[in-house]
Amino acid sequence: MTLEEKVDQLIQLAVPFFEGASDAGQITGPMASLGITEQTVHNAGSVLGMAGAQETINVQRAHLERNRLGIPLLMMADIVHGFKTIFPVPLAIGCSWDLELAERSAEIAAKEAAVSGVHVTFAPMVDLVRDPRWGRVMESTGEDPYLNAEFGRAFVRGFQGADLAGDPDRVAACVKHFAAYGAAEAGRDYNTVDLSERQLREFYLPAYKAALDEGCEMVMTSFNTVEGVPSTGNAKLMRNLLREEWGFDGVLISDWGAVKELIPHGVAADEAEAALKSLKAGVDIEMMTACYTHHLADLIGKGEVEEALLDEAVLRILQLKEKLGLFDNPYRAADPEREKEIVFSAEHREAARELARKSSVLLKNDGLLPLKPSQRIAVIGPFSRSGDLLGPWSWTGSSDAVVRLSEAIRGKLSDPASLTVADGCGIESVTEEQLAEAVEAARNADAIVLALGENSDMSGEAGCRADIRLPEAQLELIRRVRRLGKPFAAVLFNGRPLDLHGVFEEANAVLEAWFPGSEGGLAIADLLFGDVNPSGRLTMSFPFSVGQVPVYYNAFNTGRPQGAPDAQVRYVSQYLDIPNEPLLPFGFGLSYTAFEYGQAELSSDTMTPDRPLTVTVRVTNAGSTAGVETVQLYVRDLSGEVVRPVKELKDYRQVTLQPGESQVVRFEIREEQLRYYHSDLSHSSDAGTFHAFVGSNSRDNAVLPFRLAK
Ligand code: GLC
Repeated sequence: MTLEEKVDQLIQLAVPFFEGASDAGQITGPMASLGITEQTVHNAGSVLGMAGAQETINVQRAHLERNRLGIPLLMMADIVHGFKTIFPVPLAIGCSWDLELAERSAEIAAKEAAVSGVHVTFAPMVDLVRDPRWGRVMESTGEDPYLNAEFGRAFVRGFQGADLAGDPDRVAACVKHFAAYGAAEAGRDYNTVDLSERQLREFYLPAYKAALDEGCEMVMTSFNTVEGVPSTGNAKLMRNLLREEWGFDGVLISDWGAVKELIPHGVAADEAEAALKSLKAGVDIEMMTACYTHHLADLIGKGEVEEALLDEAVLRILQLKEKLGLFDNPYRAADPEREKEIVFSAEHREAARELARKSSVLLKNDGLLPLKPSQRIAVIGPFSRSGDLLGPWSWTGSSDAVVRLSEAIRGKLSDPASLTVADGCGIESVTEEQLAEAVEAARNADAIVLALGENSDMSGEAGCRADIRLPEAQLELIRRVRRLGKPFAAVLFNGRPLDLHGVFEEANAVLEAWFPGSEGGLAIADLLFGDVNPSGRLTMSFPFSVGQVPVYYNAFNTGRPQGAPDAQVRYVSQYLDIPNEPLLPFGFGLSYTAFEYGQAELSSDTMTPDRPLTVTVRVTNAGSTAGVETVQLYVRDLSGEVVRPVKELKDYRQVTLQPGESQVVRFEIREEQLRYYHSDLSHSSDAGTFHAFVGSNSRDNAVLPFRLAK
C-alpha cells in the first residue's frame, strides 16, 4: 500500500460519497466542505449509514472496481435497538431486566442488518446516565454500573454471536461512547465532563470493560472531555488505559467529526494538530472529517509522527475486514432474496412485542387497571393515533407499520365500535376545539386512556430539555379531562424519566411505555387489559422535579444526611422546597398482583474471602394474578477508605409466581463483589461492616448487617 492508500484507509465517509448508492453525489452541508479528492473516496476504508442488500452490493462492487488493491469497504451503521423490526429503546430494554431478551433483540437486529449488507453496528451504547435532561439517556440502560455491564455483555453476545467470522448473520459491535459521555454537565449534550479518575473507574468504565471482555470488536470515542482532554485526543484514556492497561487491540473509531472538534475544544490549533493528537491517542478511523487525509502523510514526512502508528491503525482495520471474511466475500451476508424473508418477519415482530411488554413499567395503579373488554373506553391524546413509537435511532424502521395504540385497544374490546378516540392536543400545541372534542369523547366513557409523551426528537442526540415535564398543552388536556371526574390512566411515550408534576397525582394509573418500538401499540394494549402482567422495573430514577437532577440511587451519604440520629432540622443536606428522594426510585415498578417478602436471612453474620455469604428470602405471590418479580440484592460498605454509595446493586433474580405460589430466592455475596477503587486507585475490598438489602426496589428493602473478615 502506498502512504496515501494507507492514510485513506483511515477515513470513514457517509453513503452519498459512494457510487452505486441511491443518494450518491448528494453531498451537502458539512459533508460538502470535507475537501477530499475522488481518489480518497476510492481508497476509503469504510462507509457509515449503509443499509439495503442490493445497495450495499452495488456500492461494494463499484468500490472494488476502483480500489487499486481490491480492499473492500467496511459497511457500518447505527443499529441500536433494531433494524427494520424496532425494539424498545435501550432505556426501556434496561427496565425489562431481561438479559436473554436483550441478547435476542440484538441477535435479531444483527440478522436483519447483516442480510441487508451491514458489517458493523455502532452499538451497544453503555454510557452510565444520571441526568434525564440529557437527550441520550434513552440509549443507555440506566444509572447502575453493574446492570449496564450485564446489558452491555448481552448486547455484544447478540450482535456478534460466538463466531463472528463463521456466522455471517452477525455483525461486529462497537461499544460507545468511550468514555463517560453520559456525565455531561447540566445534562447538555457534548458538554464538559469532569470526573475524578476514581469516579470514572468506579461508575463509568465498568460497562465498557464488560463489553470488551465479551469480545466487542470496536470502540467509539466520545465527544466530551475527560480530565480536561477531549476523549478523541486523550492518549491517557485511549492509548494508556484502553489499549495498554485493558489490552484492547481492536479498531477505535472517532465519533462523527470528533477528530476535527479538537480545534473548537481548544486543544488543537488546526487540522494537522488534531490529526497528530488523535493518531497518537490511538484513533484508527476518522469519522466524517478529513484531518488524517489532509495531514498525516505530511506529518509523517516531517517526522512529527511515526509511520508505525499509521501502520498499526491500518493493520487493525484490515484485520477486522479479515475477521469478517470480507477479503473472501466482500458482500458477506448481503442477499436481496433472503432479505425479503428475514427482515421484519412475524417471528421478529413477536420478539419485539414480548420485549415491549417486559420493558414497560407500571408506575401507579389505584385499581383502574387492568381495563375490561366490556368497558366503554376513550383513548385521548397525541399518542392515541401516533406512529411515533419507535424512538430515536430507528432510521431503518418504519412508523407506517406501527399499529396505533387506539387500534390495538379497539382490538381488545367486546364491542370495538364502542371505542372513542380523540387527539385532544398536539405534542406541544392545543386548541379549544381539540379540548372540546376530547371532553366530548370522554364524556360517555367508563374509563379513559390518555396517551401522552414526547416526540421522539425531544430526546436522542442533541435532544436535551431543561424542563422535563410533559409539554403544557398536554398538562392542560389532563386538567380538562379530569374535570369530568372520570378515572383515567396515563400512558407515557417518552425517551427519559420525566418530571411527572401534573400527571402522577392526577391519574388513577400511570404506565411508562417509553418508546416501545414497532409492536409497541399492541404490547401496551396487552398490558392495559391484563393479558400480560406488567413486570418492568425502573433502571433510572424519576426525579421529583428537575431541580433534583442529577438524582440517582447509588449516591454518597454526605456528612449531614437527612434523618440521621443527631440530624438538625435545618442544617442537613436538603432542599427547602422539595424532598431529596426521587418521585420513583431505581428498581421500582408495580404489578397487577402483590408480592410479599418473608424475613430475609444471612447464612452468617461474618464472611471471609474464602467463605461467601448466602442470602435467602421467601417471596410469595399474594395476589390473584401470575406475575414476575425482580428480587434485588444491594450492598452498602459502611467502612470504606473512601466514601461508598448508600446502596449498590450486586445481583437480582426474576421469579415467575402463580397466585399463592412462593419461592425461596438465594443470593451469594462474594468478596470480589465488595471490591472498589481506593484513593490510590487500587481495586480491593476492606474488612469491616456492611449492610445487605433485599427487596423489590432500591428503596423498599430489608437490612441485613454483616462483616467481612480478612
Ligand atoms: C453520532 C453519534 C454516534 C453515532 C455516530 C454515527 O454523532 O454520537 O452515537 O454512532 O454519530 O451516526
